[in-house]
Amino acid sequence: MKTTTNLQRRKLLKYAALGIAGAVTSPASAKPGGFVRVNAPSAGFYPDVEIDLIQNTAEAAIFPGETTRIWKITGKVIKGPSGVLDNNEGTYLAPTLRFKKGQKVRLTLNNNLPAQSILHWHGLHVPANMDGNPMYAINQGETYVYEFEILNRAGTYFYHAHTHSVTARQVYSGLAGLLIVSDDQEQALNLPSGDLDVPLVIQDRSFDDQNQLLYSAHMMQRMQGFLGDRIMVNGRPDYVLPVATRAYRLRLVNGSNSRIYKLAWDDDTPLTVIGVDGGLLEKPEQHAYVMLAPGERLEVWMDFSKRAPGAELSLRSLKFDIAAHGGMGMMGMGMMRGGMMAVSSLPSGSDYPLLKIRVAKKEQGHNILPEVLTPITALQVKHAENAANPRTIALSMQHMSALLNGRSYKMNDIQPDEIIPVNSLQLIEFDNGFDGGMQGMMMSMPHPMHVHGEQFQIVKREVNLRFNDSRASVASGFIQSGWKDTVLVMPGEKVTILKPFNDFKGLFMYHCHNLEHEDLGMMRDFLIK
Ligand code: C2O
Ligand code: CU
Ligand code: CU
Repeated sequence: MKTTTNLQRRKLLKYAALGIAGAVTSPASAKPGGFVRVNAPSAGFYPDVEIDLIQNTAEAAIFPGETTRIWKITGKVIKGPSGVLDNNEGTYLAPTLRFKKGQKVRLTLNNNLPAQSILHWHGLHVPANMDGNPMYAINQGETYVYEFEILNRAGTYFYHAHTHSVTARQVYSGLAGLLIVSDDQEQALNLPSGDLDVPLVIQDRSFDDQNQLLYSAHMMQRMQGFLGDRIMVNGRPDYVLPVATRAYRLRLVNGSNSRIYKLAWDDDTPLTVIGVDGGLLEKPEQHAYVMLAPGERLEVWMDFSKRAPGAELSLRSLKFDIAAHGGMGMMGMGMMRGGMMAVSSLPSGSDYPLLKIRVAKKEQGHNILPEVLTPITALQVKHAENAANPRTIALSMQHMSALLNGRSYKMNDIQPDEIIPVNSLQLIEFDNGFDGGMQGMMMSMPHPMHVHGEQFQIVKREVNLRFNDSRASVASGFIQSGWKDTVLVMPGEKVTILKPFNDFKGLFMYHCHNLEHEDLGMMRDFLIK
């Protein structure tokens, strides 16, 4: 273990020397509690909020009978307003953190797990050495100090383990939680708040008959991505949300390893979407159903004021075609159908309930949905540094690997086409077999593509005609507006985005957020310089 520690540290110092990773200059030092710091808090940083996080093995009473062994993050507020932390006790879910834009936060991560690990703040615009790149993983007994200012607009962000080749298993064990940001502009809208503002983290898990988490990582499962047979919401099974006859702000987070949801209310009420990954939309949008892939978030407005106490409603995932039927893509998918699809008794793309809502009490209140939510400046292609020459990222899968532009993840392996000038706007296209070619010969799977750092906007979504039929069952479930950090790219699609790379130099990852794909190597770094 010591060797790894030293290796890690040498890596940090090397990056620091290159001016890439920022200052990790202070030597390791013991701190109270016996944890060894790999970096030190900086003297000139005055946090508004300071929280100690500790990662431990733990047990939770998820079901009657045997407790479930989990990996649990527990937080302790050192400094900060009340309500900044909720430990979500009794579940594997990591603490919910609530910050305000402009706050300076110090998060001290103590790793007491018998494994290397590092946390990443998904969707936040933070310096490279605060972003939880796998090269910063710390060992058991070590501490990583994060310090950054919350620059993001109000929104539903999250955080999770990002450890090289074991992210999927670590997130599955419990290393993921919510990070909610608010700001003045959003607060002025008077959206439902307090009990009326409900985060719903949707995940799938499998348990054995001793109530223990099951996770197998055999190759077939890794190629498809893990699919559990139980839906968990906020770390609990058979989730029921009691509501009053009021309007609610529901924040849906897909924290699953690989499962994609086609969300809809079971009584055909359209979904009123008010926000996505990077916060509120300009205006509410209504959709019969919405696709939510791993890593994506969705804010939904739902008014229960016309419903009678006792009434029930379910949020479901509806049936959709996950398979691609485009030409030779069939070959791969045939294998998936026969082999991998059988991995879960709750197949991806089938019809099943996610959670139940029960109208529990009558209550009067203000239930008006604002017509305009927030101004969003549309990014313009002509302002992109590479407007005439988009960066194409080809998504592909072969028998034992999942690749980006034919490459697999490797630490510190920046290729010339992965270098981006700081403070530039980039036009990037994710190509999942849109252009046919060799992609058509291989397995076609959906890939939720995520880029670290600042939020982006979707410019367009194109589909290869050969895939039109298989795509019909998901076609109207994409939200194209607002600020995003993760976008689902279906087989045969090409999705073009505009992404700013402002303020921070260093390494920022781009990868598939199907966590098994990520661990299989479908991940790379951009070097911003
Ligand atoms: Cu939520 Cu690099 O990921
Ligand atoms: Cu991220
Ligand atoms: Cu993928």
